[in-house]
Amino acid sequence: MPIFINGREFELKPGETVLEVALRNDIYIPHLCFHPKTGKAGKCRACIVEVEGRRGLLTSCNLVAEEGMKVVTDSKQVKDAQKIIVDLILSSGHHDCLSCEQNGNCELQDAAYYLGIERPSFDLAPAEIETDNSSEFIFVDRSKCISCGRCVEGCTRTVVNEVLNFANRGFETRISFDNELPMGESTCVQCGECVQLCPVGAIIDSRMIGRGRTWELEKVETVCPYCGVGCKLEMHVDRQKNEIIRVTGVEDSPTNEGMLCVKGRYGFDFVSSQDRITTPLIKENGKFRAADWAEVIPYVGKKLKAIKKEFGSDAIAGLTSAKVTNEENFAFQKFMRSEIGTNNVDHCARL
Ligand code: SF4
Ligand code: SF4
Ligand code: SF4
Ligand code: FES
Repeated sequence: MPIFINGREFELKPGETVLEVALRNDIYIPHLCFHPKTGKAGKCRACIVEVEGRRGLLTSCNLVAEEGMKVVTDSKQVKDAQKIIVDLILSSGHHDCLSCEQNGNCELQDAAYYLGIERPSFDLAPAEIETDNSSEFIFVDRSKCISCGRCVEGCTRTVVNEVLNFANRGFETRISFDNELPMGESTCVQCGECVQLCPVGAIIDSRMIGRGRTWELEKVETVCPYCGVGCKLEMHVDRQKNEIIRVTGVEDSPTNEGMLCVKGRYGFDFVSSQDRITTPLIKENGKFRAADWAEVIPYVGKKLKAIKKEFGSDAIAGLTSAKVTNEENFAFQKFMRSEIGTNNVDHCARL
């Protein structure tokens, strides 16, 4: 027997929650602490629904779906209750959407929009805005944090770096890096998983600040150019300036499930660096000069032949790169072994 949501029938998968069945079938229920990767948390309460025969409203993110269950997600009672919850969350922080980097990409904003909340009804925000810009790539604004716990869960269980936790209780609850150190002085490795999981603008990439609204940036899916793992990522590109503004991991990639390391997520400056080498260079009298391939290839061939003749094949070594294709690496090792006659061939992911 299927489950019924808002009068429509849906098939169940074993172990799925009501929220998961709804989201899989494009039925929106506000949810701020649940994330497919960090799982159910039951913290924000925004995902409450009505279930026939059950007392009160129930959080759908930790309610296992059962055959024959009749669920309502959009009644007045449900939406009024969701509205109060989301309103309280919104009222508890400094949410200035107009100037927030997360504007247009914020799950709290989406929930407020869905429920018709124009502005917070209560004045519960802390008097001071507490920010932390001590780390190189990540900016923290605790006044926007909704204590959903996704970052803590992600840092602890997904990337297993165990830097983030909650300090204090109640209104004083705050995310903490290594027991209240500034982020830049903690053992954080700047992997950015917390940035990726944060539903609001509380932990963001610092280098994207002021460089374009989310809807202005073109999203380009590609594979990380650094190592052989081949993480799938999305570049957020300003086409007019031809610049990469930020990088995010692709959540449904079986290779990396949205996770990236510090190089893949933040090491993209080289793409538009003025110092980038764009032509082959030949060193003459201690100085490099630009050359073209037609000049360089015979020049290198002549040099390699001369070295081989004078010192033997093993005087030559070749380094290739994990950034190029398997076929190119195959061709390179073949060249080193059969043409040069040496096994001195290796690769480095950073080349
Ligand atoms: S975090 Fe979201 S709700 Fe808060 S100011 Fe930013 S966009 Fe608005
Ligand atoms: S950047 Fe990575 S290591 Fe640092 S706090 Fe976030 S999840 Fe943890
Ligand atoms: S920083 Fe973001 S992910 Fe972490 S608890 Fe706050 S709102 Fe949630
Ligand atoms: S998403 Fe269910 S309690 Fe937060």
